[in-house]
Amino acid sequence: MCGIFGYIGHQHALPILVEGLRRLEYRGYDSTGVAIDDGSHVQTHKTVGKVADLKAILPETVSGTRGIAHTRWATHGGVTQGNTHPHASTDGAIHLVHNGIIENYQHLRRGLSARGVDCVSETDSEVLVQMMALELQGGATPLESVQNTLQHLRGTWGLCILFRDHDLLICARNGSPLIIGQGQNETFVSSDPHPLTAHTQRVVYLDDGDVVVINRESFQIKTTKGLPVEPSITVLEDAWGEAELGDAPHYMYKEIYEQPDALRQCIGGRVDREMGTGRLGGMGLDHQTLVQAAHIHLLGCGTAAFAAEIGQMLIEKMGRIPATTHISSEFRNNDPVINPKSLYLAVSQSGETADTISALKEIKLKGGQVFGVVNVVGSTVARLCGRGVYIHSGPEQSVASTKAFTNMVAALTVFATQLGRTRHLSKADGRNLIRHLQQAPHLMETYFEDIGPIHEAVDLLCEADSVLFLGRGLSAPVAKEGALKLMELAYIPCLAYPAGEMKHGPIALLEEGSPVVVVAPNDHLKEKTMSALHECKARGAKIILIHEKGDPIGAEGDVSIAVPAIHPWLTPLLTVLPLQLMAYETALKLGRDVDRPRNLAKSVTVE
Ligand code: M6R
Repeated sequence: MCGIFGYIGHQHALPILVEGLRRLEYRGYDSTGVAIDDGSHVQTHKTVGKVADLKAILPETVSGTRGIAHTRWATHGGVTQGNTHPHASTDGAIHLVHNGIIENYQHLRRGLSARGVDCVSETDSEVLVQMMALELQGGATPLESVQNTLQHLRGTWGLCILFRDHDLLICARNGSPLIIGQGQNETFVSSDPHPLTAHTQRVVYLDDGDVVVINRESFQIKTTKGLPVEPSITVLEDAWGEAELGDAPHYMYKEIYEQPDALRQCIGGRVDREMGTGRLGGMGLDHQTLVQAAHIHLLGCGTAAFAAEIGQMLIEKMGRIPATTHISSEFRNNDPVINPKSLYLAVSQSGETADTISALKEIKLKGGQVFGVVNVVGSTVARLCGRGVYIHSGPEQSVASTKAFTNMVAALTVFATQLGRTRHLSKADGRNLIRHLQQAPHLMETYFEDIGPIHEAVDLLCEADSVLFLGRGLSAPVAKEGALKLMELAYIPCLAYPAGEMKHGPIALLEEGSPVVVVAPNDHLKEKTMSALHECKARGAKIILIHEKGDPIGAEGDVSIAVPAIHPWLTPLLTVLPLQLMAYETALKLGRDVDRPRNLAKSVTVE
């Protein structure tokens, strides 16, 4: 979604801002712009399109050591140059970039009109800069102009503001992430840590309600009401994994093939093979809490929700304790009953998904205990929860989530094992599972050495009007994940159903040649899944079958793709791999933008 980058210091701002934007590109956006104080006036350059398009229209050099920049993912108003940020006040005194949504902007806009100020864009963001300008004209200081304006707002914001006549930047946060990076006599502002690591490891994650005045050598944080806030400096650790593309053709390709190493990072040091249990220190769970937990609730969106569904089943299998997965956006709006004796897990790659954040705030408000299952260190979910497990996937830049999925599943498996061992799971069963989990990275590598006839599957999928994905038990969420991947990348309508539900409706879609992807690892449900496969075949469907190597069911598919055999509770870690590759290759063949599918954003920071 929208990205902010700001700079004030002693270097030329323009190349720093453009590089910051480039590193924010993966979040998803449709237009981009910069504003720089060149010493005599503020230059603004904007364009619809990519950062490369912006680069193409920028002057060769722009002097100036202070500026703000933005990538916009349209919410209010179309994708036009006029709606692209930065937005300027009519008198040109203030330039602003904004992430988030101002819910009462139409009311505020009417108020501005009544005072003779007409907005020139269709955005909610422009009202802010016009309101601040009126404050400034009325004698307010830059800080007062921001504080006074914020008091009138309803909604969410991450703001970075440049004042033409004052040598500073001002930032504010409410609901949209913003991070200050502190260098030597220079300060950076970013909506995520990734672009900051090129400049500094010392960062401050802003909290909701913070307003920051950034001068050349220092910055001060205040509350909206002006009370001082002591900054809490976080030193960014060298994260596992390379954030740059390197030699890979796409981020998605790179991230698919990083899964074995990512999985090693996730489980390393977190399993006790001798005792057959998990050790998730960051959860801070004592024995008594685990034993007394009444219910486990898992929350997430998209891929994270499917990983959560797998976690839910493993928790029930190993812990014999009720577990439920909730779609975050539904959960928070349905007035949920919160049980303080239950444990709530917020699952999110980015840790910035607005729906998941709102859900966890609701749980905390009602006295529930929430734990994060998160990839991005220091993200909002991680900080709000305070406890949890980092999945250590390394930077995931492709909009389509891949290595985060397998690591979420792995982290939840370790949690389920830890929970199970305090209850009903025997030491022998725990040890067996951990042994297989430790082999999983190697088995992923074995699969990547021979990925099977993916291209034959792609030939079937490319021609399809729609694709049905089927699986049972742990493979039902895998089928959903495969359908989501293919749909979001190739723009082919996809349906995913638990295989037993097929005959209750989706079977009506099948006709001669319809592709059906069946996920059938060698577990106790395989025979039932095969019945569904036969019912599809009898109606002329073309079956793409994901099965375990050496299993004779391989003969039943029109295209059969084998993955290495593993413990039946760990099959999602392997069966999802060919589904990811099929989605990637199909999208490529159809000429889609694999890493940045249309209309999608990497982290969905608005509701
Ligand atoms: O960052 P999160 O894990 O909270 O993101 C959740 C979803 O937005 C995300 O998984 C989305 O569905 C991906 N595009 C799936 O590939």
